Amino acid sequence: MIRPILLHPDPRLRKRAEPVEAITPEIRALAADMLATMYDAPGVGLAAPQVGVPKRLLVMDCVKDPEAPPRPLVLINPAVVWASEATNTYEEGCLSIPEHYAEVTRPAEVRVRWTDLDGAEQEEHFAGLWATCAQHEIDHLDGRLFIDYLGPIKRQLITRKMEKFKRERARAGA
Ligand code: NI
Repeated sequence: MIRPILLHPDPRLRKRAEPVEAITPEIRALAADMLATMYDAPGVGLAAPQVGVPKRLLVMDCVKDPEAPPRPLVLINPAVVWASEATNTYEEGCLSIPEHYAEVTRPAEVRVRWTDLDGAEQEEHFAGLWATCAQHEIDHLDGRLFIDYLGPIKRQLITRKMEKFKRERARAGA
């Protein structure tokens, strides 16, 4: 089931999400819905707060090659356990801030630890787009958005445009 994605500004995107305590049928359904929602958007990552669920769960798939098989990942209670000194700058976007993009500098490589849907602990070294995406999505779990890395003027400009976009959308009854 595709779930509606919350749009910035929304107080639910600014709250720190709670750890997932147990992998219940609801959590499994949430993960499946989030993957469907992410692929439908389309996007490379989605965090539970973006669909209004204040839990520490995210999904991602940064396989760019359309010929390559997809690699859907579900990360429960993810944490960055190591980050490289070297940084990388990517033009980031966000499904909660559609059609706005900006360059963000983050550690180029990260090691992330999480629990998978079978309750097993996983750890993986991410580089490239995977590293950027993992950090962007984990930020969502802490109520942080990529625009927080921009200067205040640029951030306010995007926020004002998004407020206008949401007003117009509400008026259109969409
Ligand atoms: Ni995002």
